[in-house]
Amino acid sequence: MSRVTKGFMFLLLVLMFIQFIQPPRNKSRQASRMDITRVFPVPEKIHGILKNSCYDCHSNNTRYPWYAMLQPGGWLLASHIKKGKQELNFNEFGSYSRRRQQSKLKSIANSIKDETMPLSSYTLIHRSAKLSQTERELVTNWLEQMRYSLL
Ligand code: HEC
Repeated sequence: MSRVTKGFMFLLLVLMFIQFIQPPRNKSRQASRMDITRVFPVPEKIHGILKNSCYDCHSNNTRYPWYAMLQPGGWLLASHIKKGKQELNFNEFGSYSRRRQQSKLKSIANSIKDETMPLSSYTLIHRSAKLSQTERELVTNWLEQMRYSLL
C-alpha cells in the first residue's frame, strides 16, 4: 500500500471510530417554571420566531438536525449549545436577577440588530432561522417594551 492509501485508510478509521462518541443530548421533558413566558408577556408570533431561530442553542430543548448524528458535526453543535445556554437560556430567564434580565434583553436586541445571532454557521444549514428585516424589527421593538417595563 502506498503511503497516501495508508494515510487515507487511517483517516477513515478515525472518522468511523469517532462516530461512536455521541455527546449527551439537550432534551428536557419538563416544562420550566422559570420560562421567559412566565415573567414576560410573549406574543405568539415573537415566541415562534425565538423558538425557530434561537431555542436550539438557548433553551433546554434542541430540535436535533441530521448532522448531529455525524461527528464532528454533533460535537460542534453540543459546544454551541453549552456556551449558548451559559450566556442565555430562555427556559431559565425567570431565574435571572432583574438586572441580568435587563442586560440580557439589551444584548439580545443588539445581537439581532447587528445580525451576530443566530450564528452564521447555523443559518448556513438552517436557512429558515435567518431573520427577515420585518422579524428583526418586530422582535427588537418588543424587547424595548419589555426593557421599559422593568424600569
Ligand atoms: C447555533 C447556536 C446558536 C443559535 C441558533 C443562537 N445562538 Fe446566541 N449564542 C450562541 C453561542 C455559542 C453564544 C456564546 C457566545 C459566542 O460564542 O458568540 C451565544 C451568545 C448569545 C448571546 C450572549 C451575548 C451576551 O453578551 O450576553 C445572546 C444575547 C444571544 N446569543 C442571542 C441569540 C438570539 C437572540 C438568537 C436567535 C435570534 C440566538 N442567539 C441564536 C449560539 C447560538
